[in-house]
Amino acid sequence: MTRKFKDAGLTVLHVVGNVKQALAAQDAGVDLIVCEGYEAGGVENPDELTTMVLVPCVVDAVKLPVLAAGGIADARGLLAAFALGAEGVQMGSAFLATHECHVHANFKDAIVRSGDTATVMTQRSLGRLSRAMKTEFTLELQELDRRGAADEVKALLAASPPGKDAQYRGQMEGDMVRGEPAAGQAVALVREIKSATDVVRDVMAGAQRIIDGWRQH
Ligand SMILES: Cc1cc2nc3c(=O)[nH]c(=O)nc-3n(C[C@H](O)[C@H](O)[C@H](O)COP(=O)(O)O)c2cc1C
Repeated sequence: MTRKFKDAGLTVLHVVGNVKQALAAQDAGVDLIVCEGYEAGGVENPDELTTMVLVPCVVDAVKLPVLAAGGIADARGLLAAFALGAEGVQMGSAFLATHECHVHANFKDAIVRSGDTATVMTQRSLGRLSRAMKTEFTLELQELDRRGAADEVKALLAASPPGKDAQYRGQMEGDMVRGEPAAGQAVALVREIKSATDVVRDVMAGAQRIIDGWRQH
């Protein structure tokens, strides 16, 4: 697949969750590796490596540029990623509460009102992981996971009508009770709805302020 994309003149980024995957991606000829840690929103690598450990391990193992993803939503996260050896970051959750993002207003409101324990990991019993906001639905999935009730998890996920799964209900219809709105731990750092441009500007300006503060010491 990577060869096909490269032959078509595309730049290929590959998301990894451990060193073995990073080395395989490098061997396949990708241009850049994205290390996505356990903090991130959406589907996760079952190894559950955090960004803090994954990024430097991959940086040490590969010769390609590395981006850090998972748990980064402000200037502090950006600079931490640089310190870990990343050359940039991939942010997802920080952009959910932007004017441009087409998710439902209820979801954006829930994000800006959220805190450090706002998300939950589900579907462990199925051998995969998915991080979303805590809702009645996702907490029910978590409880079934705890009991190892994989068949019940499957049944609950399959119970939605086609095209209207729990993620759609949460993200697009704003159902913060029976939905599964995918989001990462970094929602705890998102305090207002703003433009995507301002998200980037604020991160860059904040980073500059931190660096200036370091220089004064
Ligand atoms: C709502 C949502 C949907 C996502 N969908 C995908 C996807 O389809 N494919 C993918 O590779 N990553 C997906 N991601 C992961 C992001 O690309 C990104 O790596 C991640 O959000 C970074 O971590 P953060 O959420 O802590 O910023 C998604 C993330 C969120 C929050």
